[in-house]
Amino acid sequence: MTAPAMSALDAIYHRRATRAFTAAPVGDDAIGELLRAAIHAPTAMHAEPWLFAIVQDRALLARISDRTKAMLATPSGDDHHGLARHPESRLPAIFTAPGFDIFYGAGTLVAIGTRAPGGFAVADCWLAAQNLMLAATALGLATCPIGVAALALNDPAIKEAVGIPEDVTVVAPIIVGVAAGAPTPASRRAPVIVSWRRPRAP
Ligand SMILES: Cc1cc2nc3c(=O)[nH]c(=O)nc-3n(C[C@H](O)[C@H](O)[C@H](O)COP(=O)(O)O)c2cc1C
Repeated sequence: MTAPAMSALDAIYHRRATRAFTAAPVGDDAIGELLRAAIHAPTAMHAEPWLFAIVQDRALLARISDRTKAMLATPSGDDHHGLARHPESRLPAIFTAPGFDIFYGAGTLVAIGTRAPGGFAVADCWLAAQNLMLAATALGLATCPIGVAALALNDPAIKEAVGIPEDVTVVAPIIVGVAAGAPTPASRRAPVIVSWRRPRAP
């Protein structure tokens, strides 16, 4: 597929968490390109532990959204990310409002998971997710990490419905689509440098 010319820095600065999508589908070629970009992420000890599940069935997306909201409302031990039970969770009330779609109308979900235990595998999955999101930006597509969806995507009934093997833990759910309008830019605080040791003068 043809991608517009965009430097890595352009993609980094243009990527936005997008929360409004058109009905335009994401084609198989684009999905293929996104997954190729994802697997070129750095990977600890060359483990390449990432696995991908793609959901483009809107009824299933709605079921995952509803299940996530139900799980947020009733925290349980299946909350691998501590989202629902974290005392400092700042999830807005809208997340549990009836009719709210946690996927914001996006028609494609790429769930990145792993069978490997440990922090390195989790890091690898998120690095793959970031590659995927930057590649999507370069292809003119929009994305948003939907961390809360990991709740339902690690629920046995949802795993079975999606076709995710029982022993796979979903780490990074990412929605992909065509943005409806320009997302609001999110500001950033300046980098906090706690230390920068320079060579000492001889
Ligand atoms: C690990 C992670 C989980 C996230 N989960 C959600 C989510 O469940 N729902 C959502 O709307 N945004 C989610 N986001 C998107 C952030 O809210 C967004 O990245 C942040 O507001 C900064 O905006 P920007 O990405 O446009 O710079 C998540 C981001 C990360 C990194």
